Amino acid sequence: MEDLKTIIRDIPDFPQKGVVFKDITTLLSDAKSYHRMVDLIAHRYFGQKIEQVVGVEARGFVLGAALAYKLGAGVTLVRKPGKLPYKTRKKSYELEYGQDTLEIHEDAFDKGTRVIIADDLLATGGTMAAVYDLVTELGAEVVECAFLAELNFLKGRQRLPDNKVYSLLQFD
Ligand code: PRP
Ligand code: ADE
Repeated sequence: MEDLKTIIRDIPDFPQKGVVFKDITTLLSDAKSYHRMVDLIAHRYFGQKIEQVVGVEARGFVLGAALAYKLGAGVTLVRKPGKLPYKTRKKSYELEYGQDTLEIHEDAFDKGTRVIIADDLLATGGTMAAVYDLVTELGAEVVECAFLAELNFLKGRQRLPDNKVYSLLQFD
């Protein structure tokens, strides 16, 4: 797994001073690394009857759509404000470098739909806590929140339910 970690590059002071930004574009554009990332995460959910993968705009789409395809599941989009055309439910939240709002279509799930939520990175957990609430409020069953990478020192997993967080790579 060390090779997947080292291909992610650090960009200091982006998007603001004091933040070390984990740039995953270098992993995504390397075919072997990208496919390995998707295969390793998808393997965890084989046989678990996952019906939908929820992808979080924008980097979460890249992982979420690929996972859904591998798992034979559908994709549900969680988007930044004003992008989804039908009636939405929305939540505002804070993340490592600011504040934002996310939306989901209010008819996204049948009750009890088994989902995983996919995003590239768990930092403070603000984003995923908001998405987790949106998804559960709409009646889906969250099997797990799946991340490519987790910044352990920001303790984002403490904002999510126990045993519902999986990350392929950990940064201390
Ligand atoms: C990034 C990342 C996660 C979130 C993690 O998204 O993709 O969604 O921040 O941060 P948190 O755990 O502190 O909430 P960003 O809002 O920068 O959007 P992007 O995917 O469109 O670049
Ligand atoms: N999202 C929130 N914090 C981040 C970081 N340090 N690097 C990349 N994405 C992030």
